[in-house]
Amino acid sequence: MLQLVVLISGTGSNLRALLEASEDAEFPARVVAIGADREADGLALGEEFGIPTFTVPFTAYPDREAWGDVLVEQVRHWQPDLVVLSGLMRLVPKAVVDAFSPFLINTHPAHLPEFPGPHGVRDALAAGVTETGASLIVVDDSVDGGPIIAQERVPVLPGDTESTLHERIKPVERRLLIQAVLDIANSHLDLKELSRR
Ligand code: GAR
Repeated sequence: MLQLVVLISGTGSNLRALLEASEDAEFPARVVAIGADREADGLALGEEFGIPTFTVPFTAYPDREAWGDVLVEQVRHWQPDLVVLSGLMRLVPKAVVDAFSPFLINTHPAHLPEFPGPHGVRDALAAGVTETGASLIVVDDSVDGGPIIAQERVPVLPGDTESTLHERIKPVERRLLIQAVLDIANSHLDLKELSRR
């Protein structure tokens, strides 16, 4: 059984999809803890699904490195096989990458390498593209530039707002994430091998 720690900043709708998938006894992964960098709404899912939560508030530390060191400590406590950044809206410092990558993956609401960074949906809309997408990547030292595990195109429709477009992208992210977790658990996807290419 693959043990997951999921890190969030927001509502955690992608996390909810993982938690719901794990309710199936056949699903080969379990979320063992949920972590956040702030009082994220998604932490309530811990109570709903009976999963422990922890918060390492970014603003409580003098810098990103100090925050990252505590985050590593907290995540390590759960001895995860895989750490999922599911809407964690922070760049993680090198210590986090060194501790967990390539078993550190991130969902992103754009077709990377297009529109990296914190505003993937907004940037795609501003660029006037007719298609954007969803990506799942291995986190490395770059900003959303790590090896691509899976990605899919999503159309931008006339009249789309950041919110309508994001809501169309998220179900695709969820599908990619759940399939990747399945593939990793069943040894059909080797993150080490992917990161060596
Ligand atoms: C997701 O679309 C995720 O890909 C994105 O935040 C959203 C979180 O939604 N992450 C990033 O943009 C990271 N750069 P959720 O809290 O409802 O799962």
